[in-house]
Amino acid sequence: MGKKRVLSGMRPTGPAHLGHLVGAFDNWVAMQDELDCFYCIVDWHALTTDYANTTELRNNIRELALDFLAVGLDPDRSTLFVQSHVPAHAELHLLLSMVVPLPWLERVPTYKEQIEQLREKDLNTYGFLGYPLLQSADILIYHADFVPVGEDQKPHVELTREIARRFNNFYGAVLSEPDVRLTPTPKLPGTDGRKMSKSYGNTIDLGEDEKSIRQKLKTMVTDPARKLRTDPGDPALCPVFDLHKVFSTQETRAWAAEGCRTAGIGCIECKGTLADHLVARIAPISERRRDYEKRPKDVRDIFLEGARRAREVTEATMTDVRSAVRLPPPTEL
Ligand code: TRP
Ligand code: SF4
Repeated sequence: MGKKRVLSGMRPTGPAHLGHLVGAFDNWVAMQDELDCFYCIVDWHALTTDYANTTELRNNIRELALDFLAVGLDPDRSTLFVQSHVPAHAELHLLLSMVVPLPWLERVPTYKEQIEQLREKDLNTYGFLGYPLLQSADILIYHADFVPVGEDQKPHVELTREIARRFNNFYGAVLSEPDVRLTPTPKLPGTDGRKMSKSYGNTIDLGEDEKSIRQKLKTMVTDPARKLRTDPGDPALCPVFDLHKVFSTQETRAWAAEGCRTAGIGCIECKGTLADHLVARIAPISERRRDYEKRPKDVRDIFLEGARRAREVTEATMTDVRSAVRLPPPTEL
């Protein structure tokens, strides 16, 4: 009785890739048995950086909805929904914005980092500064016990805790402080050796077919010292080997490491075996994805029902929050 609740969100910014799988989805799927899970496509968060061009937004949301289902998030056990279908997130965000001191937002590490990194976008906006506050609202409105996120998101959850405390100080104990549950994030390089990321164009996507997976691995960078088939290599310096560590069996890994160091195998062979493992891992995901692609109405219904369930919870929270702030309900004006 009384399962603990988790809430996590993902921005709809393009096709999900292996980084999302091992950095988030695998974890989300595993938590479905023991916890009451809420998983949210955070479309408003996507707008904080991509407000100037929203032509892809709807398509990205649909694609991410398919990815959610394809990786094995189960609508019978988890509440799957789109953030903007649950407007109370925005209402709580507004009330939190009354009490959050500006410096708390300005000192969030991702704030200045992202402005630097995304120089082509004008992020000198109110919405972007409020990004972590909107995330706090996402979390607090469900009284989430845990927030499964990667290391980079830890400051956001810490801000959420501080905001909850400050709000409660003013208005009484209405919000609960969530705990971070750090998702182990294995090192996952893309085909060019840098961190796998859509912005680098080096991803292997979850919807990728076998041919394209094999093709991408063929051109993936390896230990640069291993120029000739007869040159021994160092797996520790090879991004292909980092993928072996995540996706291959212990046996294959040992075979690849040994063969690399002794020049007993070539890179083509090494990558071919990795491709076998990757294809095996992605195959059931693509299959489920294709199946749901054929049933758009079912997908829509799943997310409609998820939003309905989410609204039930958020309305209950907001009734308490409004009353704590002493905003009068219409019937008691
Ligand atoms: N900021 C998160 C990210 O970039 C996405 C997110 C939005 C989120 N709201 C959330 C994550 C609530 C956890 C909980 O990955
Ligand atoms: Fe990398 Fe494998 Fe080639 Fe070694 S054999 S350099 S691990 S691809």
